[in-house]
Amino acid sequence: MPTNGNSCQIRSNGAEVRPLEAFELYRFFHRGDDETAALRGVSLRLLAGEFVALMGPSGSGKSTLLACLAGLDEPDGGHVEVMGQRMSRRSEAARAALRARHIGMLMQTGNLFDHLTVEANIKLQMSLSGQSNRQSIEQLLAVIGLTRQRQAYPSQLSGGEAARAGLALALSSNPQVLLADEPTAEVDATTEATILNHLMERCRAGVAVLVATHSEVIATHADRRISIQDGRITYV
Ligand SMILES: Nc1ncnc2c1ncn2[C@@H]1O[C@H](COP(=O)(O)OP(=O)(O)OP(=O)(O)O)[C@@H](O)[C@H]1O
Ligand SMILES: [Mg+2]
Repeated sequence: MPTNGNSCQIRSNGAEVRPLEAFELYRFFHRGDDETAALRGVSLRLLAGEFVALMGPSGSGKSTLLACLAGLDEPDGGHVEVMGQRMSRRSEAARAALRARHIGMLMQTGNLFDHLTVEANIKLQMSLSGQSNRQSIEQLLAVIGLTRQRQAYPSQLSGGEAARAGLALALSSNPQVLLADEPTAEVDATTEATILNHLMERCRAGVAVLVATHSEVIATHADRRISIQDGRITYV
């Protein structure tokens, strides 16, 4: 599997580049007169090669936070920096480019395009990030155990295969930051162990990994836990 060996990226002035930082993030949602404060001043920092579990009850703000960190959503206050570059309050195109270059995102709702095969999904992701190495697609599919399903459409995959395909897609751009939103929510213990191994392997290669999860198995393997409750980080 390709690795990016980025565990100690140093700027020309000698300062270390931080893979991901969030500064005082706020996010409000409105439904009629009702306001939900999904994030209330969340700050965090992820280091290269660090595996962090983000834990909290349903509705506590985990997916909202990951979406803001990935630039898929814009915080109403605060900002995010990825590899030392500001992600927030930039055009959607600029955010997408930064995300394609540096971030692998595994979304809770699945991140595969339904009308593309597993292989076509991965190729598209690679081309968006500027990579189109056919060999690495084959390697990626083999390592993640999806060689036989390469021509399958997402609707033809089992839950566990879909979870692994989503992970393959997130890894395919060889990101420096990996954000995974409940990557093992609907899989058996064997698939969970496979996914965990891939996440840890990326960590050892220097990738900063943040996983939103309810799984104690994942959390016990993390270097650090962050708890979120009502949009606030309660323990880092
Ligand atoms: N698009 C939206 N519109 C309105 N409210 C939203 C929206 N997205 C999230 N929320 C609300 O924001 C809060 C945080 O939601 P979020 O999805 O971040 O929770 P979560 O911690 O990921 O939960 P789960 O463990 O169930 O996935 C919830 O109260 C949710 O109802
Ligand atoms: Mg969620």
